[in-house]
Amino acid sequence: MDPETSQETQPETPQETPQETPQESKRCILTTCFELEERMDQLDEERRSQIFASALSKAPNMLRTSPPLSHERANLLHIQARLLFFAEDSGPQKSLEIMKEAVSCGIAAGGGEGKFKRVAQLKREEHLREIMLSLGLVDLEKERLEEEAKQKKRDDRAAHHKRSRERKRTRENASLRKLGSAINKLHDKYFTPEICGAPGGPGRITWDDIPHVLQPSSTSEGGLTTNLEERVKRKQWQLESLAFALKRILLRVPPPPLPPPASSSRRIKVVDFGSGSGNSALVLAYLNPSIDFTLIDTKPECISIIKSRCESANIANVTAKLISCNDFKEEFDVGLGVHLCGEGTDEAVVKCFDKQASFLIVPCCLGKISKVVVKGLDNLDLSDQYSAVDYPRSQWLKGELELESYLRYTRLGDYSDGNGEGGSNVDAVLAKKLIDVDRGKVAEEKGYSLSIGKYHPLEASVKNDVICGISPNHNA
Ligand SMILES: C[S@@+](CC[C@H](N)C(=O)[O-])C[C@H]1O[C@@H](n2cnc3c(N)ncnc32)[C@H](O)[C@@H]1O
Repeated sequence: MDPETSQETQPETPQETPQETPQESKRCILTTCFELEERMDQLDEERRSQIFASALSKAPNMLRTSPPLSHERANLLHIQARLLFFAEDSGPQKSLEIMKEAVSCGIAAGGGEGKFKRVAQLKREEHLREIMLSLGLVDLEKERLEEEAKQKKRDDRAAHHKRSRERKRTRENASLRKLGSAINKLHDKYFTPEICGAPGGPGRITWDDIPHVLQPSSTSEGGLTTNLEERVKRKQWQLESLAFALKRILLRVPPPPLPPPASSSRRIKVVDFGSGSGNSALVLAYLNPSIDFTLIDTKPECISIIKSRCESANIANVTAKLISCNDFKEEFDVGLGVHLCGEGTDEAVVKCFDKQASFLIVPCCLGKISKVVVKGLDNLDLSDQYSAVDYPRSQWLKGELELESYLRYTRLGDYSDGNGEGGSNVDAVLAKKLIDVDRGKVAEEKGYSLSIGKYHPLEASVKNDVICGISPNHNA
């Protein structure tokens, strides 16, 4: 037989339990109330009465004023018992007052005619507190002191965490500074100020000769909509710097196999990784008609803009492809990565290593590396989607730093001080240099020769570090 049914056929005998402590009584009432709540709807009036009788028998005296035991009274009892339970330290007399107050202000039962609000639908603690306040049961001074003590504990804990974070940072920055002389030595070794030429010097671009549709001013992509004149000027400086640096690289790339016709032999191929809508590479392609440019990006709209710009300018040496750096498999000679955020720059360089291609990169958004790597570590199954590159990049730095510190330095070094030369935070400047020289060092370890320079003039962009790697194949 179903135990429920069996129980129902054996009415419980009301029993006094005078020996129970108030706490035990409260617990007992509460348990009964939960049972009531579960069963109430399935029971007939008679059975409910029996259960209430039992509940009342277990309740302390103050609850024994509740008949008649209608369904509604049951709810009231239930609610009262719960309130009682929450009135832990108040003592029987006060608890009774609380309940009466609860009923009188309509939160335990209200609306007359058996319309009850169930406690579960009310904000119990809030209402109970209101009631206790109105009955003067709350020792506000005691509460204030307790709150003050709690707040002090919270403040102390926060100050402790802050101090230990600062100590950790100081320790980490000390390890960064320890590497300082090695970083500066490498940076000095790679630093090649003339990499981007000089403003107004030879190799700068005569803009009037470039078709308008290929010029940065022809598109609003890249935020070239406000301060247009100044932004266009800066983009022109960037492109002049890149054109100059690219020319230096192309001079090293062996010419296509002879004899002509060149059409039957492979032409030199430059790939622009993360080309956007071609604001950098299209001008470079126009300036180097004998070289093939492949522009790749993961945004379809960028690819259509590139195609339409090429059509309008009638240039034939550009191919645009919707593909990510990681998925790009073709052969090529030189890779560009201009303002390709975070790990994108490294993915492009890895492709250059694969194909022994030279590269020209202008990194940005170093801090993004950390986000991508951490996401990858949090989702090991999907880590390939987050980063195809391991950090630190070079064997040299792998031997000096843990990944965690390296990632912190990517965030620390992700500053823009406007001229790229100082910044008030010397550690941040050092961290930025560290990431640059690590990128240089990994290439050097693979036989590349490295130069790090800056856009000319520096105001061309806050992201003005230009890193150039000449492949061992082009080093002759
Ligand atoms: C800030 S824009 C730079 C555009 C362009 N290089 C220039 O100099 O104007 C970065 C571009 O890189 C693309 N990109 C980012 N990660 C990429 C990846 N892993 N593979 C291909 N494209 C990527 C983005 O869609 C975006 O269009």
